[in-house]
Amino acid sequence: MSDKNLPIGVMDSGVGGLTVVKEIIKSLPSENIIYFGDSKRMPYGNRTEEEIVFLANEIIKFLENNKVKAILLACNTVSSQIDKLKHEVPIFGIIEAGCMAALESSESSDIGLIATVATVKSGVYDKTLKMLDRERHFVANDSRKLPQIINDQLKHKYLLDKHIHECIDPILEKGDIKELILGCSHFPIIENEIAEIYPGLKLINPASKQVKLLEEYLESNNIKNDGKGGIKEIYTTGGTKEFAETLERLHITNYKLSKVQLLKEDTVD
Ligand code: DGL
Repeated sequence: MSDKNLPIGVMDSGVGGLTVVKEIIKSLPSENIIYFGDSKRMPYGNRTEEEIVFLANEIIKFLENNKVKAILLACNTVSSQIDKLKHEVPIFGIIEAGCMAALESSESSDIGLIATVATVKSGVYDKTLKMLDRERHFVANDSRKLPQIINDQLKHKYLLDKHIHECIDPILEKGDIKELILGCSHFPIIENEIAEIYPGLKLINPASKQVKLLEEYLESNNIKNDGKGGIKEIYTTGGTKEFAETLERLHITNYKLSKVQLLKEDTVD
């Protein structure tokens, strides 16, 4: 198989990275995709840096064994540790893409950011933004609960709204924030729910910029799939039901969904 036909690997701690898959389907419909969502071991955002690196390396190995030509780290939490990851194929984090998207769609000096505990604690969003533009700052807040609630399929609307408020209200109380980065791959899944509560707030999903950067890489290396691709293989360590529900919510069709067990599955739990 030529490199052009090899799939793109996408990894996430759960269903969140399907928001990146949606962008790939939109912008690069001929690409084949292998997705890995580690639902059984999420939330990554409440784990230590060492655990996140260990789990992410295991998934990268899985994707490389499946002969992918590049890997998108859809997970912001994993992307915050990108410098420590072991890989042989090129990997693309989402945080730089998020910062670039923020600068492209905002002129304010303060930009809101919601992400996991580990992502905010890592300070990587701040460092990356500072490198791109010294005059801009993030006003950030984290949530321990939201990613898991979203992964579990939003069964409790009251709980969902409560945690959205707990996460975003403190950011808005700190100043005149007009834009908010959705710095966790799970958050674009509830974009409509957030927009309903904060109609004046511009929500920025880093996924489209991440896929744009991937496209530039594929084009400059002449490995963009120009044939008839579009095969989507989706693997999860958790239940397939929540995946099927999220895929439906995101209008992603024609996929093959399987449950897998990683060798060292229970090493970190
Ligand atoms: N998908 C992860 C991210 O983008 C968050 C979910 C988790 O905590 O596992 O940061």
